[in-house]
Amino acid sequence: MKLKIVKGTRDLFGDEVSSFQFLEDKAREVFSLYGYEEIRTPMFERTELFAHGVGQDTDIVGKEMFLLEDRRGRSMALRPEMTASVVRSVITGNHMQQAKHRRFYYMGPMFRYEQPQKGRFRQFYQIGAEYFGVSTPDSDAELLLMLRQFFKAVNLKTVSFQLNSIGCQKPECRPSFKKSLVEFLTQQKEHLCENCTRRLDTNPLRVLDCKEESCIAVTKDAPKIYEHICEECSHHFTELRSILDDHGVVYTLNHKLVRGLDYYSRTVFEVYSENLGAQNAAGGGGRYDSLFEIYGSPIIPALGFALGLDRLAMLIDMEAQKPEGIFVIGHDRRVVNRLVSNCREAGYKTLYDPFQSSMKSQFRQANKANVYHVLILGDDELKEGKVSVKNMTTSDQTSVAIDQVIGHIKSELSPEK
Ligand code: HAM
Repeated sequence: MKLKIVKGTRDLFGDEVSSFQFLEDKAREVFSLYGYEEIRTPMFERTELFAHGVGQDTDIVGKEMFLLEDRRGRSMALRPEMTASVVRSVITGNHMQQAKHRRFYYMGPMFRYEQPQKGRFRQFYQIGAEYFGVSTPDSDAELLLMLRQFFKAVNLKTVSFQLNSIGCQKPECRPSFKKSLVEFLTQQKEHLCENCTRRLDTNPLRVLDCKEESCIAVTKDAPKIYEHICEECSHHFTELRSILDDHGVVYTLNHKLVRGLDYYSRTVFEVYSENLGAQNAAGGGGRYDSLFEIYGSPIIPALGFALGLDRLAMLIDMEAQKPEGIFVIGHDRRVVNRLVSNCREAGYKTLYDPFQSSMKSQFRQANKANVYHVLILGDDELKEGKVSVKNMTTSDQTSVAIDQVIGHIKSELSPEK
């Protein structure tokens, strides 16, 4: 049997895993500042959960789900996203009985049968957050502020926000806009791609984010949805924009941003980076105040986002991350082991070469490891009972007695103490 990895999947290891861990740790750190708690839901759900929630006419439900039948013939789907699962959990677990508002975050693999390319996989990973129970524009702003803080914490400077409001289901809001959009698009029907000609009937809003040149040209002058939404939605959007302006959040208004999932209402946004290439969306989200109702539950306002972890990891420059920890170099296995143990017991991440390669090779490994300190136990040092401590950020090297190394490192890392 010839072993082969499944198309669109990959094994994660090395720098990529380090980037994933770094991003996950920072997300936990930042999201918990905003009162989010972690939720873990099953990797598969009944297919109808996604069909009803994400929408029958969406690409995700129509052609991208991994489906399986259980032994009793029921259709199950590997989760293509987690918003529907978290909402299902809130409903089946009665999570909103304990509090009027709740915030959950999650991270893990999702599955979509898409054509694999750079930054697009069939098993990919998301970090997401969902906020339930609050309908004010302040909560939309808070979500975007949290995202901005997260991007700052992971030192991602190339990301930018795009924002739009797609209104609500009231007849005078999105449905009325849809009518004028269809009228506008019908006049130029012959310039639309085949897919969009079909979408004119099924989901005309999606014509706005078609990537075909001819459709982009047609929709350039299309009516702007945020100028045609109802008064309440319009007020929500104006308030949101003014709060974001107060906080100095930079964003671009994009009247063509409609998202590929059907559950959204009012605010929608996406996060882009020009460094990602064709698959340049690093994340997306928005408000989905009617999803609970779709599942037959009393209305609970809700909003959230998901970030593509694979794509963020591509953006993270590991070199730009702060050096951390210690690498111990030396040939005397006993002394090296003792020093490594002492450093770890003192709470420092400590690495060494278990193969005891040449000093030159150990130096090379230490340089690559992006550590803060390298401890060198050469022949001269051993004779004197000392260690050479090299600070990798300044390149300063000091000779310190072995039993004083921890104290020395501590004082260098927090000089004020
Ligand atoms: P989404 O826009 O479908 O939204 O996915 C969010 C992000 O997941 C995308 O921006 C992208 O970075 C990443 N992503 C999606 N598909 C793939 C793929 N095949 N390969 C690699 N990365 C991918 C949602 O999933 C919504 N649940 C977000 C949300 C949460 N809205 C409200 N709450």
